[in-house]
Amino acid sequence: MKKFVFLLALLAFNSYADDAANGRAKADAACALCHGQYGIATMPGAPNLAGQNAIYVSEQLKNYRSGKRHHEVMTYIAKPLTDAEIAQLAAWFSSIKVSVETP
Ligand code: HEC
Repeated sequence: MKKFVFLLALLAFNSYADDAANGRAKADAACALCHGQYGIATMPGAPNLAGQNAIYVSEQLKNYRSGKRHHEVMTYIAKPLTDAEIAQLAAWFSSIKVSVETP
């Protein structure tokens, strides 16, 4: 039983790592222009996504896709995304480590 649980955890971890790698490739191609290569926005008006909670990122992308949240650019970008692609993108942005310094 213990072995089985370990195997499951390993599978879950591996698929998360795969998701992040796939998401990174997609983000490089489709998101980096505005949100930056590592999720620190390069375009004024675009938010940073580095280290953002995966649930939040995927929820926002689904909201843009469904029209619940509207933005000219993001609605257009999210429209063709599948649930799997959204999960991958969310895994990538949430996997980026950010550190904070008090001013
Ligand atoms: C042409 C510039 C541009 C590109 C390319 C772009 N975005 Fe955005 N994105 C924006 C802007 C601007 C906003 C703020 C929209 C708003 O006010 O709702 C935004 C908002 C978001 C948000 C909501 C963030 C929050 O804090 O609520 C997410 C998530 C997001 N983008 C993900 C992506 C992903 C994933 C891609 C690539 C598939 C992508 N974006 C490509 C400009 C862009």
